Amino acid sequence: MQIFVLPSYEGMSKKAADIVAAHIILNGKTVLGLATGSTPVGMYKQLVNKFKAGELDFSGVKSVNLDEYVGLAPSHKQSYRYFMQTNLFDHINIDKNNTYVPDGLGDIDNAGRYDDIIASLGGIDLQVLGIGHNGHIGFNEPSDSFAYGTHVVTLTESTISANSRFFDSRDEIPKLAVTMGIGSIMQAKQILLLASGFDKAEIIKEAFCGPITPRVPASVLQLHHNVILVGDEAALSKLVKK
Ligand code: GLP
Repeated sequence: MQIFVLPSYEGMSKKAADIVAAHIILNGKTVLGLATGSTPVGMYKQLVNKFKAGELDFSGVKSVNLDEYVGLAPSHKQSYRYFMQTNLFDHINIDKNNTYVPDGLGDIDNAGRYDDIIASLGGIDLQVLGIGHNGHIGFNEPSDSFAYGTHVVTLTESTISANSRFFDSRDEIPKLAVTMGIGSIMQAKQILLLASGFDKAEIIKEAFCGPITPRVPASVLQLHHNVILVGDEAALSKLVKK
């Protein structure tokens, strides 16, 4: 595992954008696994800046997102499709037909079809991840076992509370989500996990220094051969000694 500790959120975002950019520069047809949440917002801004500066061409890039709320239409302002459009896709020259986000209005009994899409793209070259306070990645919540493929999950109270800041009222927050599974994530050739803020320090330590357990879903990343952890000093303060 490679670890980059940056002094600030901005530094973390720049380093993460550089890593994503390197993939695109090396392979114009790269398949990016993308994440939502507040952590990667700065990275997306940096990528848009690089595109506007003429440094990146997204025309051959394909993307697959980790997750989506069940019941939210793509036009809903809190849907992850809307997040991706407004934070990235609307500002770069990616072909929208080559951007995939699980369908929040789709047939939840057939959520696994998303894995066929990932397979048809030839798998994910770089998977970007954030981390929830309870160790979730995508929406893979703490559980008794690791779920392999894309599936529907019931969100935990901790996740609903953490995400309530985006909704007008708690009642509006979807209780279900569709997420790529741990197997789909672990098959990515490289993983880039971003973490920012002191409130993530304890879970980062647990995920990377504690036992590998589905109770801390991110701990499975200890088994991946190509993980890059990019964080600010606060988030990595319990992992890396100064
Ligand atoms: C959500 C997303 C995750 C994300 C997590 C952390 O639950 N499904 O993919 O990593 O939130 O979000 P934040 O970066 O806002 O802390």
